[in-house]
Amino acid sequence: GISTSTRPDPFILLADHLAQVRGALFDLLGSSSPTLDEIAKYYFLQPSKQLRPLIILLLAQATNGLGKNWEKRRLEGVQDLDLPLSRADVLNDFNPSIPTKTASFSEKWDIHSTTAANPTSQKEWNGILPTQTRLAQIVEMIHAASLLHDDVIDESPLRRGAVSAPQAYGSKLAVLGGNFILGRASAALARLGDPEVVELIASIISNLVEGEILQMKEAPAPANAWRVYLQKTYMKTASLMAKGARGAVVLGGCTEGEIYREVAYAYGRNLGIAFQLVDDILDYEAGEATLGKPGGADLQLGLATGPALFAWEEHPEIGPLIERKFNQPGDVELARDYVRKSSGVERTRDLALAYAEQARDVLVPLPDSDAKGALEALTGRVVKRKS
Ligand code: FPP
Ligand code: MG
Ligand code: MG
Repeated sequence: GISTSTRPDPFILLADHLAQVRGALFDLLGSSSPTLDEIAKYYFLQPSKQLRPLIILLLAQATNGLGKNWEKRRLEGVQDLDLPLSRADVLNDFNPSIPTKTASFSEKWDIHSTTAANPTSQKEWNGILPTQTRLAQIVEMIHAASLLHDDVIDESPLRRGAVSAPQAYGSKLAVLGGNFILGRASAALARLGDPEVVELIASIISNLVEGEILQMKEAPAPANAWRVYLQKTYMKTASLMAKGARGAVVLGGCTEGEIYREVAYAYGRNLGIAFQLVDDILDYEAGEATLGKPGGADLQLGLATGPALFAWEEHPEIGPLIERKFNQPGDVELARDYVRKSSGVERTRDLALAYAEQARDVLVPLPDSDAKGALEALTGRVVKRKS
């Protein structure tokens, strides 16, 4: 094993790769409609942690070369992944500007004439295949689309320290922008050429919606509250990390039955749940200045997360408030007081720690490498984060 002090900083190890992932995203989201172009790129303008791409890239790096089909995937991985712009952006095809000179039919309609240039699309870089880099971008696009829709549903005024997309452009355009991003992500996903990965990644989108629906339902019976909360947490957060990570390992040539697929899935699942539990703590502990979004939003939205569910065990009086989703005047403040005088936050943190430890433990079958060390370090970072 690698000692704590020599574990590489996960965000520094692949900083150049993450910058590339972000930069090339703008090419995938271009549209000849200026409105759509602007809103699709909006949530990528502010800096973000890029945690999801990082998990994918690190698992790719840690497992490439280990799978039965590595050599085959390595050859497939250098195929051209670029989306020809005129095919991706249909508006271009049907938006003829008045020609200044008469273009020949083939000049005008050659669908391969322009491509969204992506320097990583042709070669292996940092031991990571272009298909895996592209998967990191696809997963970040799905995440951004879900945030656009989430900010409509939650009526949130802020995201990543700036005015939210629905606030800036209105709900209709925010919803449409999210749908547009999903369309581009789907096209890029198909280009990876692996139906298993297409199915796996498509199921993330279903899970995100299922998680959101689960959260909208009336509060579950007390006996089911924890099970429903953890299931929702998997659907809305951990599924994306688990299946994204597994997809990267599949693209690296690990076949059905090889343990690395399960390692990746279990890592993403456990890390994702730990991440969301910490998110739910920060909603109680941190304010707008550190979060870049309003704090205390969950109770306002009627949601009882980990801290409130633990507080319920210590102060049964909070039960009726949870059941009516804090919808009476004073409920939110009263619930916050109960949580504060309970050990709800502390116990949620312990639970997050347990999931993070699980995430670290499942890495044991991987051979030692910088990427493995960074994945281990990431489990500590996720529970220690303050924003
Ligand atoms: C943020 O949670 C939201 C999500 C993790 C997923 C939301 C999913 C949907 C709205 C379903 C539609 C999905 C797609 C792909 C179009 P939060 O509201 O708890 O966190 P926040 O504080 O960051 O807003
Ligand atoms: Mg939400
Ligand atoms: Mg929200």
